[in-house]
Amino acid sequence: MPQTTFYRGRFSVAPMLDWTTRHCRYFHRQFSQHALLYTEMVTAPAIIYAKYDHLDFDLSENPVALQLGGSDPEQLQHCAKLAQERGYTEVNLNVGCPSDRVQNGMFGACLMAKSDLVAECVESMQKVVDIPVTVKTRIGIDELDSYEFLCEFIEKVHAKGCNEFIVHARKAWLSGLSPKENREIPPLNYERVYQLKRDFPQLKISINGGIKTIEEILTHLQYVDGVMVGREAYQNPSLLGKIDQALFDPNAPIITAREAVEKMLPYIEQQLSQGIFLNHIARHMLGAFQNCKGARQWRRHLSENTHKQGAGIEIVTQALSFIEE
Ligand SMILES: Cc1cc2nc3c(=O)[nH]c(=O)nc-3n(C[C@H](O)[C@H](O)[C@H](O)COP(=O)(O)O)c2cc1C
Repeated sequence: MPQTTFYRGRFSVAPMLDWTTRHCRYFHRQFSQHALLYTEMVTAPAIIYAKYDHLDFDLSENPVALQLGGSDPEQLQHCAKLAQERGYTEVNLNVGCPSDRVQNGMFGACLMAKSDLVAECVESMQKVVDIPVTVKTRIGIDELDSYEFLCEFIEKVHAKGCNEFIVHARKAWLSGLSPKENREIPPLNYERVYQLKRDFPQLKISINGGIKTIEEILTHLQYVDGVMVGREAYQNPSLLGKIDQALFDPNAPIITAREAVEKMLPYIEQQLSQGIFLNHIARHMLGAFQNCKGARQWRRHLSENTHKQGAGIEIVTQALSFIEE
């Protein structure tokens, strides 16, 4: 990450299953040169016993962090090594996702209760790579939600070599709530994340959860090293068009949604020529024009046409013609 005197902090787009695919990341990259983009979570067994190449990405998407799911130190080590070889900027361990499927595989948020194992996983990955190994976690799970519990977890994992944590500022309930509810119902507690930074000043701490505007991002950066934004970045990617200027370089241009979509056209053509369906790319672009006149027609035209047999680039340019600046 380039650090100028203006550098205000780390900014990343959260890992989101089924959302932050490589096409989505390519789109987000058109808005910001500096944002760190996370992959969706990929489990270590999926990579190792792969039916297809889960790690395939375009180097022009970089900086990209590969998020891994797993709890087997050897498997994770193997995957971390592959991540570095393939050109990823960072490898991240998911200790925040509360879905049942994830718990059965013993990864995600349930690992907060197994700090020794997480520490072992981190140590194992760290041994074989030079890129940062980071951990994304919650502030607690179930009844294990005291500040002392969180500190103990961080301390143990840090002791084995993890210096960067991304903390979703709400606890997760491992049973009773769906993953979606677990992103909405447990209350946000930003102060707890700020406190973590005060108590562990040597660590890089990023905050995550419910953050939507540049103003909010700048406020959080007064207390922590970085901000991670998930849903808002996906549903309103124009936010990303303002990030470079606000956080990294006062001379950087603000990128509009129209500019980002236009920059996507050669990529879309190239992907179509390789047999990728238009809707696999365009579905990530539906939210591009929030609050613009014509946004509804943009969405409707894409939704109704991009899945059709032979749908080509003209569907996107036609949809773009509905947008009034
Ligand atoms: C559709 C979707 C999928 C997600 N998948 C993952 C995932 O694969 N790994 C992960 O650590 N978090 C995942 N999350 C959680 C986000 O990374 C993030 O922590 C959460 O949405 C809170 O941030 P936000 O309020 O800015 O959206 C997902 C969230 C959404 C909405």
